[in-house]
Amino acid sequence: MGEPEVKRVETDILIIGGGFSGCGAAYEAAYWAKAAGLKVTLVEKAAVERSGAVAQGLSAINTYMGMSGKAEYGQNQPEDFVKYVTTDMMGIAREDLTYDIARHVDGTVHLFEKWGLPIFKDENGKYIREGPWQLLIHGESYKPIIAEATKMAIGEENIYERIMITHLLMDKNDPKRVAGAVGFSVRKDEFYVFKAKAVIIATGGATLLFRPRSTGEGMGRIWYAVFNTGSGYAMGIQAGAELTQMEHRFIPFRYKDGYGPVGAWFLFFKCTATNAYGEEYIKKTETIAQYEPYASATPTPTPLRNHQFLVELTEGRGPVYMRTDLAIAKLKEEGADLKHLLNEAWEDFLDMTVSQALLWAAQNIDPAESPSEAYTAEPYIMGSHSGCSGFWVCGPEDVMPEEYKKTFPLVYNRMTTVKGLFAVGDNAGANPHKFSSGSFTEGRLAGKAAVKYIVEQNPTPEIDEAKVDELKELIYRPFKIFEENKNASTREDVNPNYLLPKQALWRLQKIMDEYAAGATTWYKTNEKMLERALELLQMLKEDCEKLAARDLHELLRCWEMHHRLLTAEAHVRHMLFRQETRWPGYYYRTDYPKIDDDNWKVFVNSTYDAEKDEWTLTKRPYVQLVS
Ligand code: FAD
Ligand code: ADX
Repeated sequence: MGEPEVKRVETDILIIGGGFSGCGAAYEAAYWAKAAGLKVTLVEKAAVERSGAVAQGLSAINTYMGMSGKAEYGQNQPEDFVKYVTTDMMGIAREDLTYDIARHVDGTVHLFEKWGLPIFKDENGKYIREGPWQLLIHGESYKPIIAEATKMAIGEENIYERIMITHLLMDKNDPKRVAGAVGFSVRKDEFYVFKAKAVIIATGGATLLFRPRSTGEGMGRIWYAVFNTGSGYAMGIQAGAELTQMEHRFIPFRYKDGYGPVGAWFLFFKCTATNAYGEEYIKKTETIAQYEPYASATPTPTPLRNHQFLVELTEGRGPVYMRTDLAIAKLKEEGADLKHLLNEAWEDFLDMTVSQALLWAAQNIDPAESPSEAYTAEPYIMGSHSGCSGFWVCGPEDVMPEEYKKTFPLVYNRMTTVKGLFAVGDNAGANPHKFSSGSFTEGRLAGKAAVKYIVEQNPTPEIDEAKVDELKELIYRPFKIFEENKNASTREDVNPNYLLPKQALWRLQKIMDEYAAGATTWYKTNEKMLERALELLQMLKEDCEKLAARDLHELLRCWEMHHRLLTAEAHVRHMLFRQETRWPGYYYRTDYPKIDDDNWKVFVNSTYDAEKDEWTLTKRPYVQLVS
């Protein structure tokens, strides 16, 4: 590895991450930027055509209202969606943000269709609903379709691929205003310095902080995208942006080991899940009766459905099965075309979770003949699915409550508490159930607001060159550590003076799994366990100063590791602060086993002061807008 060449890019709006929310931001910003004469740049660590959580494709659009009034689209209203989301989050969500997504999401879905995404329709041309909010799609090429439209909107020359962004840059004259970002090429010896007036974080959530259930030959197979490594959270944390609900996580209930999603099966195929003795355990309402008033909501909130599963497993009535056999037999009885039905069943997985289809084939499972095991996965930190971790972002001016307005230095939709820094998709907290369509929509909202911010505020960022030099040194340090110490042992992966990123990752996963309510403890923890987790994380942090890299790919892994570690710390600190069990089925504080609406029906927010290495945690009120 030679001395990296320094590449400089000056732009107005920098979007970090070219997944669904990043593409949405780029598409919309490009439109408004044209009129304002601004430049939009997108940087992605992989290739936009197949990057992020939608890399493999998807088989559904999970957020669609159908509020155009046209019968062929359906007729949900944004208010209905807000109620659904808040209930699914056990009573707490940013209703202003959720409402904002809901009122705009249909337009996004119609654009997707215009760009060529095939949506399932009936013989009258009406969208086929998977469930109240979900539409079925033939979505293997979902990401390439969206990527193509994005590239056309901002111009391929403004897209930088294979560049891992590691740090944000703050304005030399105002440390509370963003000025750009730095990162490195994962293919060439090139160090990138992006100078920007506004930055939109769109790097997805954080996976593999916890020891996954997969081991050995299945290692690395998880449900959410392995590429989403907490980069946005970590970079924003270091910049001092306020976080919200970082204690929250999503524990998906999935087809066991292949991680095939269950939504289409439950909602569209009307599949049931039973314990080993054939009991449909969700009917045992006594298992969640202590969690009223949330337990009697329809549908039962996602964490409580998990809780019901966990009761079966831990009381010895496993395995639990998805009864695809019963569902298909029933549909056949009702006159469905079996061949067509089976095609759809296989396509559901072939479109988005190919490994599940492979597992069916490998285990001789014909879904019409045999049931499939289901299980809960390890925790994921994310803000776009049934999880709501992320940054505390500004809402739209017309519906954001006054209490929230006061918490922002400037009021621009989806701007964080750091001036010029926006967060979207998995990175925007407390407004979950966005999924693919909602994440793209949120990107659009931020893209438009970022242009408005630049036009109205006319920021003139200045980069601190000494800081850039310091970061360059730091970013490539793992190479130096390897070179200086590699001869201390005969094997590169056993060395007294450094850690390889994979070794550090294993340690992180072990700590998180065993102390911070991972799958091994059935998602249980308490104050003492969390305090111990923090001690061990601190030691890991110190050791991670000695991460070593042998090539650019391993350098990428080093920085993903740093990002995961900081995200994990935020998660643990938030769990420690919230003294209740708000989401049974996602995690349990065994020392505070109840839902405590009197004290904790609030958001838990935090900020990190990098200079002092200090965290501050606080409560922010939940404001109900829709009753
Ligand atoms: P992503 O789309 O994941 O984008 C994040 C991007 O940031 C990636 O391209 C990544 O490479 C890039 N990145 C990360 N770190 C860096 C860095 N440091 N520097 C530069 N770039 C970086 N939604 C639905 O609507 N319907 C479904 O049926 C559905 N099913 C799903 C099934 C599976 C298996 C999965 C994994 C997800 C599913 N989703 C579904 C959810 C949907 O994919 C997400 O909600 C959505 O993609 C989130 O958008 P995002 O922009 O936040 O993240
Ligand atoms: S996916 O994003 O990976 O495809 P999943 O299969 O869990 O997710 O869910 C798809 C959609 O169905 C989501 O909107 C989810 O909230 C919803 N869903 C899944 N299972 C159920 C259920 N049992 N009841 C109601 N909604 C459900």
